[in-house]
Amino acid sequence: MDALKLLKQDHRVVKKMLANLEDTTERAVKTRSEGLASLKQELKVHEKIEEEIFYPALKEHPKTKDIALEAYEEHHVVDMVMREIETTAPYDETWMAKFMVMKENLEHHIDEEEGEMFTQAQQVFDDEELKALGQRMQDRKEELNESVVERIRDLI
Ligand SMILES: [Fe+2]
Ligand SMILES: [Fe+2]
Repeated sequence: MDALKLLKQDHRVVKKMLANLEDTTERAVKTRSEGLASLKQELKVHEKIEEEIFYPALKEHPKTKDIALEAYEEHHVVDMVMREIETTAPYDETWMAKFMVMKENLEHHIDEEEGEMFTQAQQVFDDEELKALGQRMQDRKEELNESVVERIRDLI
């Protein structure tokens, strides 16, 4: 599959999860903690395939190097806010405030990827290269998701 198409699909899933969490109230403690755990897992795999496969490929081209470097840092900021939310009780009044900061950061990051980054990527890679990158990311994604299933199985 085309790399950009694969990443866009992931982005849609993340956006849906963010929208669902935004709709929760302080009383929805279980929904918030479960929703956050699913979002974290989804983001972990997505960030990994970008950081291990897509961004390094972008970094090799002078035209896309800077935007890739910036993207690593944006992941880092999102991960930090995520850790803060995880240590905040879902019924605490600051939970939603922190969540909204993470949501806005993520949406900005996704917009930048799908806008400037993907436009530039289409200029430096041909269709074959994008397909090959997409295949590698798809394989890695499956591998990462399998290891999660195995870990859950070990816990049961
Ligand atoms: Fe990203
Ligand atoms: Fe992304």
